[in-house]
Amino acid sequence: MRIGVLCSGGDSPGMNAAIRGAVLRGVDVHGFEMIGFMDGWRGFHENDVVQLDRRAVRGIAPLGGVMLGTSRVAPFTGKFGDPNLDLSDFRARMSDYELDGFMLIGGNGTQTVAGILASHGVNVVGVPKTIDNDLVGTDYSFGFDTAVSIATEAIDRLRTTGESHRRCMILEVMGRDAGWIALHAGMAGGAHAMLLPEFSVSLAQVAEWVHSVHNRGRASLVVVAEGFKLQGEDQAVTREGLDGFGRPRLGGVAEALAPLIEEHTGIETRATVLGHVQRGGTPTAFDRVLATRTGIAAADAILQGQWGMLAGLRGDRIEMRELDAVAGKLKQVPAERYEEVRLSFG
Ligand code: F6P
Repeated sequence: MRIGVLCSGGDSPGMNAAIRGAVLRGVDVHGFEMIGFMDGWRGFHENDVVQLDRRAVRGIAPLGGVMLGTSRVAPFTGKFGDPNLDLSDFRARMSDYELDGFMLIGGNGTQTVAGILASHGVNVVGVPKTIDNDLVGTDYSFGFDTAVSIATEAIDRLRTTGESHRRCMILEVMGRDAGWIALHAGMAGGAHAMLLPEFSVSLAQVAEWVHSVHNRGRASLVVVAEGFKLQGEDQAVTREGLDGFGRPRLGGVAEALAPLIEEHTGIETRATVLGHVQRGGTPTAFDRVLATRTGIAAADAILQGQWGMLAGLRGDRIEMRELDAVAGKLKQVPAERYEEVRLSFG
């Protein structure tokens, strides 16, 4: 069995641990031959390949980033939803590499591609990763815990400087259309309000929360997810350009909100955009364990011929789920998780 491994989308702490888990199981235990494509589908198109064996993955589990590199290069030309998608070039390339199948490590965009390939009969197993935690089919994705820990530390630090100056501090975190990082980091850091993409609120409401914190002698700390929209706005704040999947690049909402809050409350307000710090550096132990287990489960699934599946966490077990049922679907924060904390805002 010859398997091509590649990573696509934004990097996520734990990807190296997932590759290591898959290789130790796949090569050493099941006897597969595994090759890695550099920088996602770019490596596949341009024949940029490395052999994956025990030696290649030595010592990589604690390392952030990903040794294979990642990109948002597309695997084939043609539209994603096209039922007449022509994969003949793709298949020809696959047979040049003598591949039996792929292990695709990626988030929502990548698993959508995995689902399309699987629906056209290409052998694919998906390994879910994303700091956004927005994938259906897994309770948590590796990278999320690390991002939440980094964002929590940022909240802790912003609180002390905010308190010293009696300012309102706004922290913007990533997550695209899902507010999981904002919700979990906000809870862990004891934020006074969390503004999530799933639940619009008015500027007057945000100002009221900030005021009420100020009135009891505290400096308010607001966490805002990059995809948040104020009530009445129909799109999130974006930066120039599109990402490799053709989606608008999000970011800048904290900087847009800060002057508005200051104007409405008269309280000096500062914005911090945490950005890619959330994705960089050492993965937490939780993410390393989840990633390793996911890689192992994906290799086992390949041995058993369970193609077209995603290795997701359900409870304490890694379970294989049909890509058909989960790919391309967005897991957002449900109302009950938001309500749990919203009553205490302000
Ligand atoms: O999907 C992961 C993610 O970090 C999002 O939270 C964020 O919007 C996006 O990727 C940023 O992408 P890039 O690294 O291309 O700026």
